[in-house]
Amino acid sequence: MIAQEVIIKKRDKNELSREEILFFVEGVISGKISHKQAVAFLMAFFINGISPAEITNLTQIMTETGFKFDFSKIKRPIIDKHSTGGIGDKVSIILLPILIDLGISVPMISGRGLGHTGGTLDKLESIVGLFTSFTEDEAYTMMEKNNGFIISQTENIAPADKIFYSLRDECGIVDNIGLIVSSILSKKLSEDIQGLTMDIKVGNGAFMTSLSMAEELGSKFMDFAKHANFPLTIVYSDMNEPLGKMAGNWLEIVESIDFLKGKKVDNRLKDVTYESIIQCVLLSGFELDREEIILMIEDSINSGRAYEIFEKIITSQGGHIENSYEYYKNTQEFSYIAKSSGYIQYDTYQIGLANYQLGYKNNPGNLIDYSAGFEFNFHSGDFVNQNDEVLKIKGFFPEKFEEISSLLDKAITFSDIEIEKRSSIIKVVN
Ligand code: URA
Repeated sequence: MIAQEVIIKKRDKNELSREEILFFVEGVISGKISHKQAVAFLMAFFINGISPAEITNLTQIMTETGFKFDFSKIKRPIIDKHSTGGIGDKVSIILLPILIDLGISVPMISGRGLGHTGGTLDKLESIVGLFTSFTEDEAYTMMEKNNGFIISQTENIAPADKIFYSLRDECGIVDNIGLIVSSILSKKLSEDIQGLTMDIKVGNGAFMTSLSMAEELGSKFMDFAKHANFPLTIVYSDMNEPLGKMAGNWLEIVESIDFLKGKKVDNRLKDVTYESIIQCVLLSGFELDREEIILMIEDSINSGRAYEIFEKIITSQGGHIENSYEYYKNTQEFSYIAKSSGYIQYDTYQIGLANYQLGYKNNPGNLIDYSAGFEFNFHSGDFVNQNDEVLKIKGFFPEKFEEISSLLDKAITFSDIEIEKRSSIIKVVN
């Protein structure tokens, strides 16, 4: 077999066999197949579509040609949750210690912010001293000690995905549903998990802006689950406004800590977090109903155990929570005031871009300003009076606040007509 043969077959709209995909993926990893050929292969998939069998094969082969954890010594259910990304989405950070407390182990390989969305690894790295890059041996040790971790993809996990992903990013081939599904799942299957809850975000702050687009993605995940006999639940959740009160790396850690300590809890954030935990517990095989799981979540928080586990995990990954509060205590803030009255509505995509601009771009030394972000006072559909403080802009570089404020003028509108308040959970499919 030669690479050109495989590319031509897909170029001519024929389905590739498992052997052909395996040949190609192995060739890319070994370097026998060039990156130019890899782009042609990916572009052929992008243009001509990927069949359910091709998605299953590509996913499994990308996992199998890399390192796969073996957690057979851990006598607890091993489950994970993954989100397609949004603004203010700190659910993974809150869910992990609670699931661990409920008897489930969670080996979470997570990602960074993509485009306008935030990333769990970036949020965690706002904690002073914390790192997310570990070897597989270190990950095993954390799993034995803590029953969980949140780390980045190692060099050896799904190495073909690592190469494909950067080529897709470089060549405009990211937004293809089949490639997204196989990329996400190839890493998740490396975790040796027994089930996965996928939180597919829908709305103007998500990659899937409409429910029909999100359902198309969801159906591809489900096709894989059926083909591979893999337990999967999909939670479709709303991303037409930021999730929770805070958006920004350190700010989201603060909101997560408050949640885990039972202090301040935003109801929309609570709904998505609880639903995700419930679905993970149902996948674990524990014989519990929703009401019992909710009581267990609340006990985990109110007893202090959830926060204790969170702190243990953060410490194991090098982080210092107290030092972080000290480090961020001089964060500057600016009140963004409503210029008129009305029912508030967010263009969440624009909010995400403004947040990116505030924290990631054009900082001295081009470093990420982890203190940067927004603290919201209103939900979409709330009535706001002229001169109310809509939100606080925060960060270490106040010279940026005026510019960000004018970006927010385009992202936030006030309507005379009442706007329907959306529930944060759209539906659950399994
Ligand atoms: N996240 C991934 O890991 N892969 C994609 O293709 C998109 C999002």
